[in-house]
Amino acid sequence: MKVGPALGDIVTELVLSPLVWKKIVGMQMLVEGLAMGAFATFYKNGRDPLMVQLMQLTMTDEAFHHKFGKIWADRTIPNIDPAERDMIEDWAWHVFQILLYNLGSPEQKKHIYAAVGLDWEWVQGAFMEALTDVNIREEMQESTNIFRVLIKTLLKTGIITARTAPNYAAFIDMKELYAESDRMVGDDIAEEGIKYLLKLNGQGARAYSLESMGSAAE
Ligand SMILES: [Fe+2]
Repeated sequence: MKVGPALGDIVTELVLSPLVWKKIVGMQMLVEGLAMGAFATFYKNGRDPLMVQLMQLTMTDEAFHHKFGKIWADRTIPNIDPAERDMIEDWAWHVFQILLYNLGSPEQKKHIYAAVGLDWEWVQGAFMEALTDVNIREEMQESTNIFRVLIKTLLKTGIITARTAPNYAAFIDMKELYAESDRMVGDDIAEEGIKYLLKLNGQGARAYSLESMGSAAE
């Protein structure tokens, strides 16, 4: 299946960019973060046991991709030139909006609607009627909402500052986020999967874990 145009454009921009921060913030932090959320949803709602287990095993790998981005940001953002940091902050807001408004959009999956005889523009209109800022705000109250988790990651790594915090505040209570833990949506599912793999491979607890990854790199 083909990637949707909005996500496809972002991924192409990341690949072609000579900027390392664009690749890491865009891929590791935002796209891999969304991937974790998507896999977690399949894991929780899937009815096919093979798919559920496949999702979990995929997440044991994906969780590290996202965590790497966080570790990079923790160490890099406080030490870079303020002008460059501002660029990263502005770009993160730009990408965040594209992802927020496009990922669920019927325009991004025209062929699926066509296959079931629905006009995507008609479906899009119905979506727009129901999707208000108030509505988005409500969904982001959920602690497992992936966009909430992404904002939290950007905030705690210093990519979101007072410059762009008001933009995100349209959807979320920013103060509340500071008080929350750093756990990523799907981390628990991935940890369970890692335990299963350790047992399967006959290794002890000395092997990889999400918790040890940050500290081992100190
Ligand atoms: Fe990945």
